[in-house]
Amino acid sequence: EIEAIEKTYEKFDDLVETLKKGKGWMTEHLVQFQGFWLSPSSALKGVLFVQNHFKPQPSDIFLATSVKCGTTWFRALIYATMNRSNYSFNTHPLLYTGPHDCFPFLDAFIYQDYLISHSTSNNPPSPRLFATHIPYELLPKSMATSGCKFVHICREPKDVLVSTWLFMNKLRPKHLPPLSLDEAFQMFCEGVSHYGPYWDHVLGYWKASLEFPDNVLFIKYEDMKKEPLFHLKKLALFLGKPFTEKEEKEGVVQEILKLCSFDNLSNLEVNKTGILRYSSQIFVNNCYFFRKGEVGDWQNYLTDETVKQLDLITKHKLKGSGLTF
Ligand code: A3P
Repeated sequence: EIEAIEKTYEKFDDLVETLKKGKGWMTEHLVQFQGFWLSPSSALKGVLFVQNHFKPQPSDIFLATSVKCGTTWFRALIYATMNRSNYSFNTHPLLYTGPHDCFPFLDAFIYQDYLISHSTSNNPPSPRLFATHIPYELLPKSMATSGCKFVHICREPKDVLVSTWLFMNKLRPKHLPPLSLDEAFQMFCEGVSHYGPYWDHVLGYWKASLEFPDNVLFIKYEDMKKEPLFHLKKLALFLGKPFTEKEEKEGVVQEILKLCSFDNLSNLEVNKTGILRYSSQIFVNNCYFFRKGEVGDWQNYLTDETVKQLDLITKHKLKGSGLTF
């Protein structure tokens, strides 16, 4: 297995050389691969791994998101929903383990040290839960046809831009000047953002959700904020774990929402001081994944002119798709 993986990466540097380069948000340039902008050292490697080596199981559940669309929140929600009969809410693993550690990144499987150190978790209990930022079009066909379930979370593009810009600046090495909002805006609009163009990423899952409604659930971050009870019940039903009448009466849905709420998760010690290890080189403080968790914070950052431009791009990109923000 490891030899086959090594073979995939043998000509990796040559491949990167052939790809179009775009400006990076942190240190590295992004490269355009099969229509999407990826960081070569992590995302591209991850996509190559998934395309060539990942073996989906029909029971697999994927949380598929663009960056900054609510991955952390939905990781917690899905984990708590799927495992609700295994744990009590007072001693729940989410209280001591960051949502990321309960629910691994599919793409993280690329790292050999991860593969070796987690060799036992190659066979985690079924259904396996994975998070991924990989666009639908870049996933191997076997994942779409094997019956796996995808939960896609999308978010209003202006909030995604602001949240991404602030997040990336936290990760930028201190010796580099911060990325200005103007630069971030330009790059985002041109589609040169991690796993972007953002709109193409969203549309891939949107179309798949229309074509395969039993396999792809499409949820907006804003809708979950507005009607959490309704959407969590819908999510549980989609995942094959509908809440029973008894559970509803006992307030289990509310308990899960409370456990996974921004206020609760962001104030836990593990999320205030813990660190997420993506790979042997990439570490991110858990607290960076919790900023405000609100809808419409873009109003505090974007000018009227940028709002107009971004809204126009969104309208143009989504035209005829039936999707609106
Ligand atoms: P903001 O920067 O707008 O606050 P991701 O998890 O995909 O990286 O997305 C991060 C965004 O989700 C951040 O948005 C973060 O604050 C918000 N978020 C994290 N946990 C949340 C929760 N439990 N409820 C709502 N939003 C949450």
